[in-house]
Amino acid sequence: MRKKIIAGNWKMNKTPKEALELVDLLKSKVDTDKSDVVFCVPFVDLIPVAEALKGTNIAVGAQNMHFQNSGAYTGEVSADMLLDIGVKYVIIGHSERRQYFNETDETVNKKVLKAIEKGLIPIVCVGESLEQREKNVTVDFVRIQVKSAFKDVTSEQAKGVVLAYEPIWAIGTGITATSEQAEEVCAAIRKTVAEIYDQSVADEIRIQYGGSVNGSNAGELFGMADIDGGLVGGASLKEDFESIVNY
Ligand code: PGA
Repeated sequence: MRKKIIAGNWKMNKTPKEALELVDLLKSKVDTDKSDVVFCVPFVDLIPVAEALKGTNIAVGAQNMHFQNSGAYTGEVSADMLLDIGVKYVIIGHSERRQYFNETDETVNKKVLKAIEKGLIPIVCVGESLEQREKNVTVDFVRIQVKSAFKDVTSEQAKGVVLAYEPIWAIGTGITATSEQAEEVCAAIRKTVAEIYDQSVADEIRIQYGGSVNGSNAGELFGMADIDGGLVGGASLKEDFESIVNY
């Protein structure tokens, strides 16, 4: 049985002070027995949030990292820096980073390899645009993203990776994929993982759905056979996140 994993992606929201207010509100309320729970917060919030979550089972995640160990990369943050402050997860290849910050399948793969090498758990995002969905190339496109992300990743390593299927047209739009649409692609992703590795890796790997998840649709989405939780943007910034985690 795969344990569900529900992660909040705060994006560029919440100052450290505001972050602590939200953490205070949520930390005793979310159920971490049924699901792994992760708060993926802005870099400057990581230290105070990690401190505030000590003694709970809620993990801290970053929203990006660089694939080099260290060096002259102004403005970037390394895996070692994240590990040193207690970060456990890192989102890699979010569509907003692909869209606005030149993240490519190649850099996503480099970051996945570095995160694994260092011992961070990558949450790797894939997903199609509305245009691709309308052209009926969703599964083909997502398969390419998955295969590129796992290049040179061993089967043992792959089992620990978390994938997030996030159709771009559903992110921040209030339009959620139907549970059937989300399940169809998550099942195709699992099949792709089975093709790259084998069925046992595919059975073990966790695949989240992301895109306008909220307290009212979480239960149905997370109830689908191949959906192992969610990556939640807007609704993770509010008390509503509790109802998603405790769906
Ligand atoms: P949303 O964002 O829940 O606000 O649609 C999801 C995401 O981008 O991870």
